[in-house]
Amino acid sequence: MSLFLKCVKGLHVERPPIWFMRQAGRYLSEYRNTRKRAGSFLDLCYNSELATEVTLQPINRFGFDAAILFADILLILDALGVKVQFIEGKGPLLEPVKNKADIERISNLGKIHEKLFPVYETVKKLKKELPKDVPLIGFAGAPWTLATYLINGKGEQGSLTAKKFLIENSEEFEEIINLLTDATIEYLIMQIESGADVIKIFDSWAGALNADMVLRYSLNPIKKIVSEIKKKHPDIPFIVFPRSVNTIYRNFSNEECFDVLAVDQYLDRKWIADKIQPKKIIQGNLDPIFLTQSEELLFQELERVSDDFKTYPYVFNLGHGITPDAKVENVELVVNYVKGLKL
Ligand code: CP3
Repeated sequence: MSLFLKCVKGLHVERPPIWFMRQAGRYLSEYRNTRKRAGSFLDLCYNSELATEVTLQPINRFGFDAAILFADILLILDALGVKVQFIEGKGPLLEPVKNKADIERISNLGKIHEKLFPVYETVKKLKKELPKDVPLIGFAGAPWTLATYLINGKGEQGSLTAKKFLIENSEEFEEIINLLTDATIEYLIMQIESGADVIKIFDSWAGALNADMVLRYSLNPIKKIVSEIKKKHPDIPFIVFPRSVNTIYRNFSNEECFDVLAVDQYLDRKWIADKIQPKKIIQGNLDPIFLTQSEELLFQELERVSDDFKTYPYVFNLGHGITPDAKVENVELVVNYVKGLKL
């Protein structure tokens, strides 16, 4: 079994495996070239040949221990019939869903696979082309994070529009969460049946919710997705990333069905080592800002992270996605550093 799969399944590993969130991205010149050839960002996501190519780029350049399918969490909204665009320099722009009629219009789960077919093709191609010891991570956005884009029509600091909607229109909000939960179960099952080895669920905006809301609208739907899928595919490990939920990470660590908890850079590492690592394999925490800094500063931070987490096996990763201004030579330095660690 590959180093990464051993680690996420809780088996002993000789060193932490490493991969990075957004490892295929604009900091790489080869990504920028392929992206130009593809046309728009969505064209790239739906072109299985080019999506395969960009997924492989960071594997070939750095030798990461896992690959992540190149796609986007918002594709499933596009597949449900929401108009999704990515505006250069601004990010996603969607047609907001605001009332029962809008929800009704996007409730046809039957048709998502037709639109998402190229994503499944990418997974199949990758399984053929990836080295045998590099597993493939499939993924989806958590229902709450998807709902924030759906309700507001774009990303928003603090997700206040979606948060007000959930308080003021709780019936419609629950319908949206249930719809997204069911669609995600279908989508991920297809990724697994196409060949994905591990699944990661991104709840990037979970930290905008208060503690009660996190349990109800972040944790519960994710738990439903994972437990439903595990009835059919019990051996597929799940990585869950409830970003910025602070001490509520503890509630996530109590869930049997989650295999790995991805931790952000805001949590105190000593607290993670004390409260979370004894219960769950963790992944992440290196602040991506250090990838833009000098070798010395980066190196100091790597020593801190690896020292604080060394008591238990963990997956080396960032606390959030790599930024376009990350230095390529820094990424190389981190991979070489981690490959020299011993657990
Ligand atoms: O390498 C990988 O990690 C795999 C591919 C991947 C992308 N997005 C490609 C992408 C994955 C796993 C995602 C997840 C994603 N997408 C999340 C969850 C993780 C997180 O970052 O919190 C979210 C919230 C999105 C939605 C999204 N996609 C936004 C807000 C943006 C615009 C912001 C930005 O960075 O430009 C995107 C675009 C996007 N998704 C890019 C990439 C490589 C950049 C687009 C480009 O090439 O122009």
